[in-house]
Amino acid sequence: ATEAEEKDLVIVGGGVAGYVAAIKAGQAGLKVACIEKRGSLGGTCLNVGCIPSKSLLNNSHLYHQILHDTKNRGIIVGDVKIDVAQLMKAKDTSVTGLTKGIEFLFKKNNVEYIKGTGAFQDEHTIAVNLIDGGETSVRGKNIFIATGSEATPFPGLTIDEKKVVTSTGAIALQEVPKKMVVIGGGIIGLEMGSVWSRLGAEVTVVEFLGQIGGPGMDAEISKLTQKLLTKQGMKFKLNTKVTAGDDSGASVKVNVEAAKGGKEEVLDADVVLVAIGRRPYTSGLGLENIGLEADEKGRIVIDQEYRTKIPHIRAIGDVTFGPMLAHKAEEEGVAAIEYLSKGFGHVNYGAIPSVMYTHPEVAWVGQNEAELKAADVKYKIGSFPFSANSRAKTNLDTEGIVKILSDAETDRILGVHIVGPNAGEMIAEGTLAIEYGASSEDIARTSHAHPTLSEAFKEAAMATYDKAIHY
Ligand code: FAD
Ligand code: NAI
Repeated sequence: ATEAEEKDLVIVGGGVAGYVAAIKAGQAGLKVACIEKRGSLGGTCLNVGCIPSKSLLNNSHLYHQILHDTKNRGIIVGDVKIDVAQLMKAKDTSVTGLTKGIEFLFKKNNVEYIKGTGAFQDEHTIAVNLIDGGETSVRGKNIFIATGSEATPFPGLTIDEKKVVTSTGAIALQEVPKKMVVIGGGIIGLEMGSVWSRLGAEVTVVEFLGQIGGPGMDAEISKLTQKLLTKQGMKFKLNTKVTAGDDSGASVKVNVEAAKGGKEEVLDADVVLVAIGRRPYTSGLGLENIGLEADEKGRIVIDQEYRTKIPHIRAIGDVTFGPMLAHKAEEEGVAAIEYLSKGFGHVNYGAIPSVMYTHPEVAWVGQNEAELKAADVKYKIGSFPFSANSRAKTNLDTEGIVKILSDAETDRILGVHIVGPNAGEMIAEGTLAIEYGASSEDIARTSHAHPTLSEAFKEAAMATYDKAIHY
């Protein structure tokens, strides 16, 4: 081991939370080191999450559209085939470009990048097992834990990332499976299920709850989304639980029954995707050496300023509370550095958007109807269908709605829920509206360019307190 060197800040984990904090620290003039064990920066998001999944979603959508949606547009195509190896290569090119980009930004902002696995030796020292062999240690006046999350395993099924996969295997399959069973109808299940369904797999999603998309998705939007995905060929078994699995044969068998109990059924698949959620990852981090504990869900407990009970040690991103989203991790990376360098920082947890990148996309921000009802808030609903939007009509892409929920008394926008083309881009306007405390009338009186999909947003806002024009 080499002599321990003292930094202002040592960050364990080079995912979105960690790398953003590292860059911000460099910009603030702090002496900073970031330790990452993967051999590549950007964490789950860039390497095996957001980025590769969106590459596959984009290209599988193109393929699906060329197969099923060209004739009526006056485009005649010949022999369309899928080349899975090239599809994966295109994905890898996007990933490598972006992860290398972070390395460049580290150099530009004087961040020391240490490639290895870090573990607490004491409250100020991280011992590092280097990827290239050997060990070192680094001392920090401050330490950030940004070690992220991992897929929650399903008891009884062994993940081999070939037949029984998490999202990591699902973004790297070498061929299109004939039959795929997805356990969990949340965001990963629906995004990755979409990819392989578009490429030709028969996909069945088994979901414990009565709706897809997880509890954050507004029930009306979830129902509509399920209808649209069903039309594309995906099958759903809601209110259904997986009771057992058998991966010993050539195919995988999954036993399912009604959540409330009932007749059992056995599903057979070439590939089973386990997508029942993710859990904070702190394995091998040596928390026991400094007396830090995680809560019952594995999250590192922090205060408002991201401090653990050892105040110079902070935790940000998936490893702690809140939604497991890259842009949430990024906001925390910035805010934690601001607390450290200036003494104040801020993240508005009420204005963090969620996007599911299926086609059409689903996006929301703020509260949904069930949440407002539970909080006994009186609200108005304005909704507008893309079938009445001129741009959606010219694009022959008219499925979906924009739905805006605003306070019945003040007209302040409380929630925005969209299923439709480009919903993921459009939600930025809703997020900004909530961030600035806009009323729906503020939005409706703002000129939106014609013809754009955003006009559906304006008209939905108008419909909350008045009538929409085009519907
Ligand atoms: P991570 O990105 O998990 O990074 C933590 C890093 O720490 C890892 O690289 C790990 O190797 C490293 N590490 C752990 N322990 C140690 C140690 N002891 N020493 C050194 N290094 C260590 N979010 C979105 O907002 N949009 C999306 O479209 C989206 N798509 C997703 C798709 C998939 C398939 C998955 C799985 C996730 C997706 N997410 C998406 C979620 C997003 O990836 C996470 O919220 C985000 O990566 C969290 O960032 P993080 O820095 O907290 O953790
Ligand atoms: P999730 O929490 O979104 O969904 C898991 C689903 O599985 C839930 O609907 C749950 O009811 C269901 N479930 C749990 N146990 C079950 C069982 N035994 N049988 C049947 N169903 C069961 O988790 P998911 O999809 O694994 O994603 C993990 C995280 O990754 C998400 O929380 C999300 O934050 C992040 N992510 C974000 C993306 C995005 O922003 N576009 C894309 C992919 C992941």
